[in-house]
Order: sequence, then C-alpha cells, then structure tokens
Amino acid sequence: MRKVELGVFMPVGSNGFLMSKRTPRYHPTFELHHQIAQVAEDIGLDYLFWMGKWMGFGGESGFWKNTIEPMSVASSLAPLTKRLKLFATVNPLLFHPAVAAKIITTIDNISGGRFGINVVTGNTLEELEQMGVVPEGYGDYRYEYADEWIRVMKMLWSQDRSTFDGRFFKLADCVSDPKPIRKPYPYLVSAGLSAEGLSFAAKHSDYQFVGLRPADVERTRAAAAAEGRSIKVVTSMLLLHGETDQAAEREFELIREDLDTEALDNLIASFERDNRDSYKDRTSYLRQPNTVGFGSGHPVIGAPDTMAEKLAQLIVETGIDGIQFTCVDFVKDLKLFGAVVLPKLKAILARHDIVVADAPAARVAA
Ligand SMILES: Cc1cc2nc3c(=O)[nH]c(=O)nc-3n(C[C@H](O)[C@H](O)[C@H](O)COP(=O)(O)O)c2cc1C
Repeated sequence: MRKVELGVFMPVGSNGFLMSKRTPRYHPTFELHHQIAQVAEDIGLDYLFWMGKWMGFGGESGFWKNTIEPMSVASSLAPLTKRLKLFATVNPLLFHPAVAAKIITTIDNISGGRFGINVVTGNTLEELEQMGVVPEGYGDYRYEYADEWIRVMKMLWSQDRSTFDGRFFKLADCVSDPKPIRKPYPYLVSAGLSAEGLSFAAKHSDYQFVGLRPADVERTRAAAAAEGRSIKVVTSMLLLHGETDQAAEREFELIREDLDTEALDNLIASFERDNRDSYKDRTSYLRQPNTVGFGSGHPVIGAPDTMAEKLAQLIVETGIDGIQFTCVDFVKDLKLFGAVVLPKLKAILARHDIVVADAPAARVAA
C-alpha cells in the first residue's frame, strides 16, 4: 500500500503565498497558525511546514511584509497538537550547530518526537546580507557549510562527547544532552534545486521538495538510493475551490489579472542579484502567465469533485510521496477540503492502493 502524506505550507508571511491585489490581505499571527493547526489535525493531515523568511518583497499588496519565526511558532504549537509532524525552516548561517541542536532537541521533546527542520542555505541572499552574516564566497560553498553543520548536529544528537575539526566548525569534547526522542535524529527536510542541493538531500534528508515532474521525483529517489538511503519526495500545490469548475477558473483568472507586478519584480530582482545558474530557470518560471504567487505551488482549480479527481490523477501519475497545500483562505479552504474533497480523494486513491491522510480519528480526539 502506497502512503501519501498531506500537509500545510503555513502562511509564515503576510498574504500567504499569493501575490495578488485580489486575495485576502493579512499578517501571520500565532492565533491564525493555531487555527490552521487545529483544522489540519481534525481532518487528519500529516504535517505542518513553516518556511523561514526575513524580509518581504513590498508592492501594493505588501507581500511577506510581516513574517513570524518558524521554530518558535512550531514550538508553541507542539503542546497544542497531538499527531501532526511539525517542520520548521532553519538556515545554518543563523545558528551555531550546538545551539541549533539544543533548540531542536527541546522542540523534539515538547512535541514528543514530531519535530523536524527544513535546512536551507538561502533562496535569496538579500535577506541574510541585510544582517551582515553572509561570509565572502558563501554562494559557492553554502551546501558544504550546511553539510558540516548537520554533521556536527548529528554527532551532538547521538554521541556523549563530540570533537570536530572542520572547515567551518571546531568543537572540542562538546556535550549536548538530553538526546532527541526521535531516532536516529529529528526529521530532516530540504528543498534545494541545484546539484549541490540534491546531493545534500540524498545524504541527509528524510523529505525533499521538488516540482511536479516525474523525472525529478525519480532523480531524487535515485540520488538517495546511491547513498544507501530512501527519501520521501514531496511538492506544493495551491487549492482553489469554487462552487463550479467555471467559478473556480474565473476566480483564478481574476487573481492572476490582479497580480501585484511590483512585488513580483522585486522578487525577481532579488533572485537576479545572487546571479546563480539555477535562477535563470526560476525567474522565467515566475514570468509564466499562470503565476499568482511565490511558493504557492501547482494550482489545483475546480469544484470539489473535480479537485479530488485532479489531485488523484497527479498523485497517481507523478509517484509523489507528499503534498503540502497552500490556500486563498487557509482555515476556510482546509475545512472545506476536509469535509468535501478528502473523502472523494480517499475513495479514488483506494482503487489504486494508495492511502492519504489516514490518521485514526480516535487518536486525534484522544
Ligand atoms: C517548499 C519550499 C520551501 C522553501 N523554504 C525556504 C526557506 O524557508 N528559506 C529559504 O531560504 N529557502 C527556501 N526554499 C528554497 C530552497 O531551500 C532552495 O534554496 C531553492 O530551491 C534553490 O535551490 P538551491 O539552494 O539548491 O539553489 C524553499 C523551497 C521550497 C520548494
């Protein structure tokens, strides 16, 4: 039986992931994240995922003007949830590994082993440069830095005393107790698109985010297999419900027509400053006519039945292990998804021997 995990890409920044003047304008708050977590747990989803973002992209909509810090909000929701896995983004440049290891172990403890981190090396460096923390040449060795960082943490999580003499970190007989509840380590997630990013995922990650091409899914699994590991390959999707297919498609068009082009231009300029090879592909993708946001994922548009059919088809055809959803209105849309789309999706996928969101209700209620 194939198991596909479903999660929520939490709206860490203002206005979620939609860069439109039409969609709701709001700032992220603990209260909003608590509500989303409750719905996600009630409808049987598997995880919540928080990106880490330290500056927004302006525009009339104020895209990502306010952002909340992922590890602190995940920590606050750990005792308020019972079953969801909680994944928070961490950039190694911002935390010494001995400090990060301790914070992560603490949240692992609060959550009873449900916590994990998404290790990023900087999607754009502007947000880190504003803090003055980006070392000379970092763009060329960022995954080497992250690799050392995670290796140090793995030692601290598993050994009594750790001595490490690396290019970036030096530890002498360093202790870190207690150890995490989850063995061998708290969950590790990553999302790099570059060859170095893929290699990092293959060596360390339990989950890797990719786009929706089956070839990327295969390539990621093969890279992990070459390291003697298995990895779950996951992606993001935007849920856009309507009462009818036409109504949903029309709404998508209106969101697109009202795209905040100023915010989009600022985002693309931020990518171009870093001048990485991979960014040419990524900025051209952002110029595609169906762009409605950043990080919003592949749009799944339609009435609930259509949405269930489209999701099932994507799950069957791509071989993906997980999807995290973004929404226009997270609380409302996830409730509707749980009540109307999910039962139909489960029924279709059962015919393909695939299980989704199968949390036992009794455990949710316990
Ligand atoms: C779902 C998802 C979440 C991400 N979250 C972050 C984040 O919080 N912070 C960040 O700097 N980059 C984030 N990224 C970007 C990736 O970590 C990575 O930098 C990007 O895909 C480019 O690949 P590269 O780093 O290998 O060049 C995210 C990517 C995805 C797909």
